[in-house]
Amino acid sequence: MLGAVWAQSLDGIIGDGRDMPWHVPEDLAHFKEITAGHPVIMGRRTWLSLPERFRPLPGRDNYILCSRKAGEWSAGGKVIPAMPETFESPEVWVMGGGQVYAATIDDVDVLEVTLIGAHLGDSLGDRAVHAPAIPVSFGLVSDTDWLVSERGRLTVDGQRSDLPLKYRFLRYERKDAA
Ligand SMILES: NC(=O)c1ccc[n+]([C@@H]2O[C@H](COP(=O)([O-])OP(=O)(O)OC[C@H]3O[C@@H](n4cnc5c(N)ncnc54)[C@H](OP(=O)(O)O)[C@@H]3O)[C@@H](O)[C@H]2O)c1
Repeated sequence: MLGAVWAQSLDGIIGDGRDMPWHVPEDLAHFKEITAGHPVIMGRRTWLSLPERFRPLPGRDNYILCSRKAGEWSAGGKVIPAMPETFESPEVWVMGGGQVYAATIDDVDVLEVTLIGAHLGDSLGDRAVHAPAIPVSFGLVSDTDWLVSERGRLTVDGQRSDLPLKYRFLRYERKDAA
């Protein structure tokens, strides 16, 4: 099973090119729970966006899609030039960023999407990195009610909102999946 996991704003934004424009600890815990024990695949920019002390992500093989050679910058990760045709592991997760989600969306079976209750397009302008549009071959199979994050606060361009950030976990499975 190849899955993709991301968090996006209501207007489909996943990042500002360097980081995620929000801090929602519950979403990070959700990501950890989904990917724990499984290989993760990410683009070079997403790898570099992880704080050095958190990479490689523990308990998971970290694959870095990249046309460059491995080096000090990739220590702890495994650089690969293209998506493997097959995987040794029965469950593998694509974890971004925008380029890699776009390159793999047609091949993934499952999407785990966290919807962050904010519109960010106006504040990020050209820096906005977008999630792919979810193809119609995915059916919404489950969701949960809106939750209010008590600790998470929306951060945009260094400004903190006092409003708790709402989020929702959504799981999509491809309708034509066996
Ligand atoms: N909200 C979320 O859930 C989430 C998750 C992950 C990342 N993000 C955000 O996404 C942003 C980064 O995304 P991004 O689109 O700028 O970059 P990215 O997809 O992380 O990395 C792009 C790089 O990966 C390599 N690459 C991409 N596709 C490839 C392919 N098909 N084959 C081989 N190599 C490939 C290329 O490296 P080379 O140029 O070296 O060849 C490319 O420059 C950041 O803001 C990050 O915080 C958000």
